[in-house]
Amino acid sequence: MTSRNDDLRYPPGFTWGVATSAYQIEGAAADEGRGPSIWDTFSHTPGKVVDGDTGDVACDHYHRWREDLDLIASLGVDAYRFSIAWPRVQPAGQGAWNEAGLAFYDRLVDGLLERGIRPFATLYHWDLPQALQDQGGWLNRDTCHRFADYAAHIAGRLGDRLTSIATHNEPWCTAVLGHQQGKFAPGMRDRTAAVEVSHHLLVSHGLALQAMRAAGTKAPLGIVLNQSPATPATGSAFDRALAEREYALFVRWYMEPLFLGRYPQAPGVDLYPTVFDNDFKIIGQPLDFLGINYYTRIWASAGEPPLPAPNAEGVSDMGWETYPQGLTELLVGLQRDHGRLPPIYITENGIACADVPQAGQVHDAQRIAYIEGHLKALRDAIAQGVDVRGFFYWSLLDNFEWDSGYRKRFGLVHVDYATQQRTPKDSAHWYREHIGLARRPRT
Ligand code: FCB
Repeated sequence: MTSRNDDLRYPPGFTWGVATSAYQIEGAAADEGRGPSIWDTFSHTPGKVVDGDTGDVACDHYHRWREDLDLIASLGVDAYRFSIAWPRVQPAGQGAWNEAGLAFYDRLVDGLLERGIRPFATLYHWDLPQALQDQGGWLNRDTCHRFADYAAHIAGRLGDRLTSIATHNEPWCTAVLGHQQGKFAPGMRDRTAAVEVSHHLLVSHGLALQAMRAAGTKAPLGIVLNQSPATPATGSAFDRALAEREYALFVRWYMEPLFLGRYPQAPGVDLYPTVFDNDFKIIGQPLDFLGINYYTRIWASAGEPPLPAPNAEGVSDMGWETYPQGLTELLVGLQRDHGRLPPIYITENGIACADVPQAGQVHDAQRIAYIEGHLKALRDAIAQGVDVRGFFYWSLLDNFEWDSGYRKRFGLVHVDYATQQRTPKDSAHWYREHIGLARRPRT
């Protein structure tokens, strides 16, 4: 637990938040004109999601948003990161807008502002309208233009009240998990396709920034990337080369087009997308902020069988190693490689635990230790000069964890899916207390 003598030093005005995404919490999948997304199709395909779970109901947030906003306020945070479901506001991904869907996000944003909570919106957290997938989805370059139109429309409608707008959440996941490994929607297994998709996601990001700025959007604009440092398991040349390759494909693959106008060169990186003349110019639009999601490190072991990661501070219910100092290593490394970057927000960090409520309480000491360790690692990075402006815990609520369905619980607040009852866990109380301590005036 945080001792009151700790020096919880964060920069002035540091933002404290919690995060969610539309498909994972909203439910109401067919309500009020929402069109189907690729995740509706995927989750309804037998064998794709554990237990056959779908986001049809999820946390029923579409109907319970008021209660959920009160919950957010009760945590003492000053910001909420959520995503807009493209198929809820534009059911076919082009053409007609769905006023009921737009009105939902109007109410949500106004409800946040009424409670003194700043809205951080994400435009794409993986729920592509199925109608666009039917025309090739992210493999079809035309989808980039459809995305830019959608971005400009949302910015026009909500931009005056949003604290920030991020284009994509974790394009690596869309490209690799969705198109190479087949674990996520749309479930393709094609490495060449995945590489083209990663490029289209970046082009769509750039086009969206241009379109939103052309529409006069005042809200700061950015993108959210999932990142990890890569640790070679041994000092061998093989392990070191593998770590270099993994880092190039995970981190540099997105950072270099965005900031350096190129794709990375590294040992074993042998497949590049089709790049048109202007593409790096489009992709490299100035960013007002960079969102980084961090959960664990990449462990690079080239041996057969691979050496297991040492599980520095335990393992989560996802099987992910807890390695807080990876956050410091990552941020300090980015600063070393890029020099000046836009202000950074940690837009996700969190842990899944097998939480069980006992008499109206959830004792999730492992989650508290995880957050505490990562916040310490974050303060270390800030002390080394990295410009981090905020931290968002993933997630506000237990929710639909993609291919893991409802089995994996990341929330500060427990959800009983049979009754939709919300129960703040011990970590929710801890987080509130930590934020209070961090905000204390200093003498
Ligand atoms: C991230 C996703 C988020 C959630 C967490 C656990 O990759 O952005 O939706 O699934 O992982």
